[in-house]
Formats: sequence, structure tokens, C-alpha cells
Amino acid sequence: MRFGTPNGSTAAQVAVRPPNRNLCTTEQRPLTAHLDQSQKPGQRRDNERTREAYRALERLLAAGRVRAISVSNFMPHHLDALMESATVTPAVNQVELHPYFSQPDVQAADAARGILTQAWSPIGGITFYPGYGEERKSVLEDGTIQAIAKQHGKSPAQVMLRRHGQRGRSAIPKSTNPNRIAENFAVFDFELTGDELAAIDGLDTGRRGGPDPDTVDPVSFGLEIPEP
Ligand SMILES: NC(=O)c1ccc[n+]([C@@H]2O[C@H](COP(=O)([O-])OP(=O)(O)OC[C@H]3O[C@@H](n4cnc5c(N)ncnc54)[C@H](OP(=O)(O)O)[C@@H]3O)[C@@H](O)[C@H]2O)c1
Repeated sequence: MRFGTPNGSTAAQVAVRPPNRNLCTTEQRPLTAHLDQSQKPGQRRDNERTREAYRALERLLAAGRVRAISVSNFMPHHLDALMESATVTPAVNQVELHPYFSQPDVQAADAARGILTQAWSPIGGITFYPGYGEERKSVLEDGTIQAIAKQHGKSPAQVMLRRHGQRGRSAIPKSTNPNRIAENFAVFDFELTGDELAAIDGLDTGRRGGPDPDTVDPVSFGLEIPEP
């Protein structure tokens, strides 16, 4: 569950009510603060609103209302800014991460702070979802990934998910198809070699498929975020 704007503090408190009911989000996934996305281009996202949203999560953690708290789409400079005021290091940083966009700088910044990097679009959904640019190439159709998959008798998605695990990352693939959900769990009976991991790492283009956390604003999603 995510909170960042416009009033992350209030939203976070509402989300964990009533106190006597278990929320699967707080049991299974950390409560997640996003950067303030109500800002215009050029304005900082790691601002007081973001800090207040995270402070609300810290209070919920201290009160025993959630088991873990996390952040999403925080780049190294956002983590630096957050940790100037935070008292709890986020357990997880959930960021875009697939073979075409591996964000080694974010992974290093997370690791240096003991934060688990969690991949969204872990099998590259953002490289083939409609509406993000027709010139994109689906990572599911990448020749290197397909050759490695064939070598192991696995699917490209399974190779990508296995890579996340072997590289020490968490991954949250999304599927609405029961067969593909089962396929995405069946990644514990093979191992990628060092050369295969290096070959996949080498596919990184350095270009994100999704929005840039420093410039995304409500207009990007056609949203109107009312002032509190
Ligand atoms: N924190 C953030 O800012 C942020 C941003 C974007 C997404 N996310 C989260 O990240 C999660 C996953 O990311 P995502 O949905 O962008 O991308 P993804 O999980 O990499 O890809 C999902 C797409 O791949 C298909 N798929 C799933 N398993 C497959 C398989 N084994 N073989 C072939 N195709 C397969 C799905 O279709 P079917 O459903 O038809 O199987 C869907 O079209 C979502 O739960 C989302 O909420 C977070």
C-alpha cells in the first residue's frame, strides 16, 4: 500500500483502521511511502510532504500497527534527503528494475544502507504495456533472454525472475492468468551461471520505461490531486 500525497500522514492513518482487523497489506507487504507527486517539473519531490508521509509510517511502526515500512522509486539522492530526518531505515525500496533498466546506482545505494531492492515490472511489463511508446522493445522477446531460457527449458519470464533472486533482490511480478502465476513461482529448480547473469546485466540500456521520479507529476497520469 502506498502513500505520498497529498496528505500522506492522514492517508496512512486511515489505511490501518480499524485496529482490530488484519490488513493483508500490512501483514505481507510493507507500508510504502512514495515521493510527493503533486509537484510541478523542477520542484523537488523529496520535500516536506514526502518526509511527513514517511514520518507517519514511522509512527505506525512505533505503535506496532505495521510490521515494516518502505519507500518506492527513491533514487540515491532521495534516500540521502530522507535519511536526514528519518529515524527508521526503510526495509525496502521498490523501483523499476528489469533487464533493460537495472539501476545499479540505486541498488548500490540501497545495499549500502541495508535496504532490500524490490523490482517492479520485474519481467519488463513496462517494456510492452500499451501507452508508453510504440518504439519500445519487449524484454520478453529479447534474443539473449530467450537463448538463456531455451538453455534451461524455462520461459523468459522465469529467467528474469530467477535473476532477481540470484542477485539478492525481491520481485513482484503481476499476472491475472493462473497458469502464468504458477509459472512465475516455478523458478527454484534451476540456476543461472555467472556468465548468463553477466549477459543479462549487459542488456541494461540506462533508459527507464516508466516515469522519472524527479519529474513525474499528476499530469503524467491525468490525475487531479486536490490540496488538503
Ligand atoms: N511502485 C511503483 O511505482 C510501481 C510502478 C509500476 C508497477 N508497480 C507494481 O509492480 C507490479 C508488477 O509490475 P508490472 O505489472 O508493471 O510488470 P510485470 O510484472 O513485469 O509484467 C506484467 C505483465 O506481464 C504479463 N505476464 C505475467 N507473467 C507472465 C509470464 N510468465 N509470461 C509472459 N507474460 C507474463 C502480465 O500479463 P497477464 O496478467 O495477462 O499474465 C502483464 O501484462 C504490479 O503489481 C504493480 O502494481 C509498481
